Formats: sequence, C-alpha cells, structure tokens
Amino acid sequence: MASFNLFLLPGDGIGTEIMVEVEKVVAWFEKRGVATFERERGLVGGSAYDAHGKAISESDMALAMASDAVIFGAVGGPKWADVPYDVRPEAGLLRLRKDLGLFANLRPAICYPALADASALKRELVEGLDILIVRELTGGVYFGEPKEIVTLENGEKRAVDTQVYTTHEIDRIARVAFDLARTRGGKVHSAEKHNVMKSGVLWKQVVSEVGKGYADVTLEHILADNCAMQLVRRPKQFDVIVCDNLFGDILSDVASMLTGSLGMLPSASLGSPDPATGRAKSMYEPVHGSAPDIAGKGLANPIAMIGSFAMALRYTLGLGEAADLLDGAVADVLASGLRTADIANPGQNAISTTEMGDAVVKALDARVA
Ligand code: IPM
Ligand code: MG
Repeated sequence: MASFNLFLLPGDGIGTEIMVEVEKVVAWFEKRGVATFERERGLVGGSAYDAHGKAISESDMALAMASDAVIFGAVGGPKWADVPYDVRPEAGLLRLRKDLGLFANLRPAICYPALADASALKRELVEGLDILIVRELTGGVYFGEPKEIVTLENGEKRAVDTQVYTTHEIDRIARVAFDLARTRGGKVHSAEKHNVMKSGVLWKQVVSEVGKGYADVTLEHILADNCAMQLVRRPKQFDVIVCDNLFGDILSDVASMLTGSLGMLPSASLGSPDPATGRAKSMYEPVHGSAPDIAGKGLANPIAMIGSFAMALRYTLGLGEAADLLDGAVADVLASGLRTADIANPGQNAISTTEMGDAVVKALDARVA
C-alpha cells in the first residue's frame, strides 16, 4: 500500500477545529486501505508565535519541506494584532508558500446545486457554476522588494510595496492555467491591469505567447476590475481565470461568495516537479481565514478543509478515484439538507463542525456500502 507523509498545520482560530474533521476523513481512507498516511503535526501562525516567538519554527519548516503534502488550517487573530510585522501569523503562511516554491494556487469555485440558494446571487446566475482561479502565489506585490515604511526628512512617512514579475514567473503560471483549461471548459481568462501597470503589460504579452502553444484553448484578456464586475454579473462565462498574486487573492474571495459561503472553498498550492524525483511540493488549505469571531464555538464549516484534502488526494497523491469519492460524499451531505450555520437556510437548525465532519464520514460509508 502506498504511504504518504502528511504534515498537519492547524494554525489558529477555527483552523484547529476543522483540522480535527479532516483527520477523521484521512483516517477513513486509511482504514479503507486506500493508502497509509503518516501524520506529523506542527505549529504555524499565532500558535507558533506563542510557542517560539516566530510564525513557524525552523524544525516545522524542515518537516514541511520533507512532507508529501502540507495540510494547512488557517492563521491569525486579534490576539496577535500587535506582534512585530516579521513574525505576524501570516508570515508563517507566506514563508511556507515561498520556501516550498508553491507558485501555482488552484482555487476552484463550484456551486453545488443544493447550495444555489445560499449564494449572494440569484440561483440562475450560479447554478452549475464551475470556475477555477489559478493564482500566482510566490511573486508580485506580496514578495517584491523594496517593501518598507521609511521616514522622510520632513518627518512624513512613505510606504512602498513593489509589484514585480519576470517572464518565467508569468510563463509557468500561464502553462498551469492552459493545461488545466484543457481538462475542463477549454477557456482561459487572463486578468491584469495593463492599462495602468507595467507588470500588467508584461503579463498580457507573456500569457499571449504561451497561449499560441494551446490552439485548442480560447484565451481572453480581461482587466482585473472588469473581471471582478463580471464575476458578480455573469459568473458562468468563466472557466479558468489566471492572475497575479494580489488580484487572485481578491477575485477568489469574490468567487467564493458565488458558491454560497467562504466556508466551501478549498485550494491547492503546487510547486514545480523536482527533476530528480518528479514530485512537486504542495500545500492544501481552505481559502477562508481563521474566523476568530466564531472560533471555539463549533460553528465553523469544515467543508473547505475537507475539500482541500480531496485536492491533495487528486493532485499530490495521485488518488483521483478517492478524491471523486470524497467530493461525492460532500455533495451527498449537502443534498441531504445538512448545513452548518454559514450555509443554513433561514430558520433551519444548523449542525456543528463536528456533526458536519461525521456526516461526511457517514456519507463515505454509504457510498462504498
Ligand atoms: C489567502 C489569504 C492570505 C493571502 C493571507 C492570510 C495572507 O487571504 O490565502 O487568500 O492574502 O494570500
Ligand atoms: Mg485571501
């Protein structure tokens, strides 16, 4: 039986609660003999800061580097609002992305039929929605230098962030988008702001160049602001959207609400395959944050976390059938009417985080019975 190393980083807030639920799912697949999952756990974000004064320790970074897949919960919270910038909770997440070379962030936004009424948009606009946002994750304004606040001679302060992209960074994320579009609807929208940004001009050029090698995929360039507008106007026109780090952050939050709740969106972050082993580093995390306002209350929706594990099964572990089974089980649970508070119908009794995790495990049992 194949054996994989999972490195679990629950993080802060609801991260710890949803990790418990995904572990039930991992245990289920192990019990079914799908694979053996060695599980190691570590600290990231505020919990790592409390323990080590850093957003992730060197030993946990080493474990992340050595793992087959990092399963990440969420980081941050008001408790750490005033910690130094370099060790703020988010720094742990950004370091993992950067040091693991996870340049390709896949954020699918799928509207389950059962949830079409939970969307902020009308049912007919979102029913059947299936968008994949391919977000560049290790470049752009998140990491560009200089990044600083300096005091000028007149005492005024000046803050700088740097948006920077090189050809190869754009080229490789574009290829990921085109390759994936081939397996789906055959359409790529490339979102940038070439009307005001040099990085947008280069982005558009390089994506066009890459597109020439994919005659079977339709490429459309779209300004990022228009893309945001079109996402809420007529979202089903999109198949794959490829964009830089910051636009991807924003557009994926928009896309999430089309599906009913931010609590539904999984993501996969992938690196380049190692030439020696053929394996790429990877991390799987929900798109939502640590939701400190509801943490510890059993209100969190674990589906984005569970869906992220389904993506790990598919993209890193090569267990596509297991991934389909898990996605199917989640759809069954939703179709049966069970809802956590974020997706509950008005007046409906919502179930807890734990109950939702248990329901998914039961639905898995039912699917193989
Ligand atoms: C995301 C989050 C992160 C980001 C934060 C927590 C740093 O919003 O993964 O979308 O901005 O990338
Ligand atoms: Mg975000």
